[in-house]
Amino acid sequence: MLEITDLVHSYGSHRVLDGVSIRAAEGELVCVVGPSGCGKSTLLRSVAGLIRPTGGRVLIGGQPVDRIPDNLAVVFQDYSRSLYPWMTAANNVALPLRRRGLDRRRRREAAMAALDQVGLADAAAKYPWEMSGGMQQRVSIARALAYRPSLLLMDEPFGSVDAQTREDLEDLVLRVCAHHGMTTLLITHDIDESVYVGDRVIVLTRSPARVAADLPVDLGESRDQIATRQLDAFVRLRAEVGRLVRGGSPTSTVLEKQ
Ligand SMILES: Nc1ncnc2c1ncn2[C@@H]1O[C@H](COP(=O)(O)OP(=O)(O)OP(=O)(O)O)[C@@H](O)[C@H]1O
Ligand SMILES: [Mg+2]
Repeated sequence: MLEITDLVHSYGSHRVLDGVSIRAAEGELVCVVGPSGCGKSTLLRSVAGLIRPTGGRVLIGGQPVDRIPDNLAVVFQDYSRSLYPWMTAANNVALPLRRRGLDRRRRREAAMAALDQVGLADAAAKYPWEMSGGMQQRVSIARALAYRPSLLLMDEPFGSVDAQTREDLEDLVLRVCAHHGMTTLLITHDIDESVYVGDRVIVLTRSPARVAADLPVDLGESRDQIATRQLDAFVRLRAEVGRLVRGGSPTSTVLEKQ
């Protein structure tokens, strides 16, 4: 579904991505973790067709990305600039659904259902500037999920919500992605989160980014915020990802698995 091959990007003479290759099968949820400033958002913008990478190739469903692809939804890291300030939360969520050919009433229903899923049913009539940062972020997530894209890209989507809401949103994304078979690339700097939600965890090196490791998450389909995080396999993998993010090399057990 998603094939990123030898992706290279430089801003002027500043090399940010240094040959990044990532694959995601249809319906797979792949988490990307890496140190701050290593090039994660640049990677996401390249996949979304928002910047033209200096080198390498991105294929979505076998097609090269040479413009912003249809059937893609993006949750940006900078949520404060991703909603239209002159539209209510409900209208922000409903707007892209025009491309789905839904009539006004169905768009409204889908938007209300998505807002309800992120705990914002009561805020449907509010404008972005009347909402906290975390609420705006949840509206962005609702908009992406309501669209039911075949490829969902999320850049630190839960960065400014409280711990309880974050867990609820992680579970919501897991449920919606599994139910609708969405292929998802989720960028996060939260190591626990990457292991909890991912089918695979890709660890990027410090800038310029390369893939340090591509780790399968063998925790089964269904995850539980308390039970899963207590599993030995979870604790081991979290430690391994943590070590790799800090610049360690893969342990032999991980290398054997690959
Ligand atoms: N439009 C741009 N022009 C020039 N340099 C840029 C641009 N966007 C990003 N950079 C630089 O590229 C590097 C990688 O930035 P990027 O935003 O991709 O990193 P990131 O991993 O997403 O960081 P963070 O963890 O803080 O979100 C940084 O050094 C940044 O300053
Ligand atoms: Mg970023």
